[in-house]
Amino acid sequence: YASARDCVRILQCPTHKLSAISLLPNNKLRQFVEDSVELCQPENVHICDGSDAENAMLITRLLETGSIVPLPKYKNCYLATSSPSDVARVESKTFICTADRREAVNVPKAGVKGQLGNWMSPEDADAAIAERFPGCMKGRTMYVIPFSMGPLDSPYSKIGVQLTDSAYVVCSMRIMTRIGNQVLEKLGSSSSEGYFVKALHSVGWPAEGHPAQRSQWPCDPERTIILHKPEINEIVSYGSGYGGNSLLGKKCFALRIGSSIARREGWLAEHMLILGITDPKGTKRYVAAAFPSACGKTNMAMMRPTLPGYKVECVGDDIVWMRFDQKGQLRAINPEFGFFGVAPGTSRTTNPVAMDTVFENTIFTNVARTSDGGVYWEGMEDPEPGVTITDWLGEPWTPGSTKPAAHPNSRFCTPASQCPMIDPHWESPEGVPIDAILFGGRRPKGVPLVYEAFDWKHAVFIGAAMKSEATAAAEHKGKEIMHDPFAMRPFFGYNFGHYLQHWLSMETAVPNVKLPKVFHVNWFRKDDQGKYMWPGYGENCRVLEWILLRIDNEPGTAVPTPIGNVPTREKFDLEGIQVDFDGLFDVPVDFWKNEIEEIAKFLYDQVDEDLPEEIKEQIDNLLKRLNSQ
Ligand code: GTP
Ligand code: MN
Ligand code: MN
Repeated sequence: YASARDCVRILQCPTHKLSAISLLPNNKLRQFVEDSVELCQPENVHICDGSDAENAMLITRLLETGSIVPLPKYKNCYLATSSPSDVARVESKTFICTADRREAVNVPKAGVKGQLGNWMSPEDADAAIAERFPGCMKGRTMYVIPFSMGPLDSPYSKIGVQLTDSAYVVCSMRIMTRIGNQVLEKLGSSSSEGYFVKALHSVGWPAEGHPAQRSQWPCDPERTIILHKPEINEIVSYGSGYGGNSLLGKKCFALRIGSSIARREGWLAEHMLILGITDPKGTKRYVAAAFPSACGKTNMAMMRPTLPGYKVECVGDDIVWMRFDQKGQLRAINPEFGFFGVAPGTSRTTNPVAMDTVFENTIFTNVARTSDGGVYWEGMEDPEPGVTITDWLGEPWTPGSTKPAAHPNSRFCTPASQCPMIDPHWESPEGVPIDAILFGGRRPKGVPLVYEAFDWKHAVFIGAAMKSEATAAAEHKGKEIMHDPFAMRPFFGYNFGHYLQHWLSMETAVPNVKLPKVFHVNWFRKDDQGKYMWPGYGENCRVLEWILLRIDNEPGTAVPTPIGNVPTREKFDLEGIQVDFDGLFDVPVDFWKNEIEEIAKFLYDQVDEDLPEEIKEQIDNLLKRLNSQ
């Protein structure tokens, strides 16, 4: 064939079907598809071009099978409801597979259970694949989705190819990543060197002897498994159709495989939002922030600041790929193309920008439905009188019902370009310059609204010491406060001890490195009555304002405490809101003595021999500062 473009056209000719695989523009890709076809035995292979026509065809197919229902109240929006046993990421069934266990996960002290990822040997992984995949797509279609994480013209971007038997996954991947012909062309061109991450996915139905619970949402929850092979850049996911387990560009590639590639190549792949903030004088800065799942990234990325004269713009709401450039400036891209955001709690008052984004071209999953063709979830404005609600399980629902209308982890999947405050540089190939990094979590007690790290090593320690109340984003029960270092606990692609070393090494990543300032924030502190002490959302811009003062080295803005610098009352704007400043910024010494003891035990137990000396010193230093109080 003459060029990549020619062969793409041939491939998508429906009469070619399987024979067209031989025309794929890249030997490795051809081999990958051929091998997977042999394994999964689909009846058809559809190579996705990413076009509107293709999407319309897939949506029609999903409507016919009842996998989605239309939402006529909005333009081009659909609702999918999953099997009740396939509603979130399954951390216990997610594995990093390497020859040497210590490469993949932290090796805890003897007798301690590892909390920062699961390892499986490549042999066991292959056995797990052999138990599940042979013939798993019989009678159905295998879709080939060429996708790019990051803008196609960015040197930071990486290509993946996902094979899947779910049209819902194709339609969602088309929203979340850049897919189709343009990616195939890049794969066929010399600039990409034919490099791509292999991602094989099957919902695992119909599997003989493993009937699905709900035919509209095929899955195989008992045998669900999500495997990552960072040494050969491969992802294999079986049994789940839910986003984090099935949209393999996101957590599997952009974070797990991504963090492992990033370590090899000297950059960072993180669970962070990116926003731009312009102050009243017109100076614009970019900030990245790592909060655990369901702890406020999407909300902050779309913040509407309450302080006059400030403007926030959104670059990304979940994942960042960033590196120091040759001038020493940290630069970041959002590798994604859409938002896969938590629906409950999103409303005109909490996140009006999300509400202005999600009612066009959106696939909702596991929210409730209204009788006038719309959606409903907890926290959303009440529907008009006379309108009735059907919950995510298909049962009638009223405000008096004991069960929630929408699943707590229900989501919207919506194009980022529709966000009215999307940053003009969000697709810039060279990324945006990052001047501050925030860590944060849900901490009802003891942790101030914001504090600043003393230096880079202290910053890495603060990231390592992150904890947060469990949420519905994974299978955990209750509100237990869990360790979630760097908000990456479920997403590390390699040994957390090595990860700490990698973060520490950024101090000398390039000559003249300009390290960003690092902060810890907590919107979720509660008073003795159990009420949030801070209004949050748009008011969080007050914290950003103080952070900008710190970046500009404004004098008189901070006082040291044992855990870090906190704002002075004079330089922290509280005009127009009633809050307890002293309570919000209190650093209770007894609480922190317990806290550091517990954090030290966690880090020594979990990371053991791989715990960097610098982190041990940070633990000792904090203890000394607390003891001298
Ligand atoms: P993932 O997409 O799972 O990684 O989560 P996320 O970090 O994007 O979380 P998201 O922004 O969707 O927020 C989850 C929940 O936190 C929602 O119920 C929000 O209403 C709530 N939330 C977000 N910001 C604030 C805040 O400033 N204050 C309070 N009290 N709640 C907040
Ligand atoms: Mn996330
Ligand atoms: Mn989010």
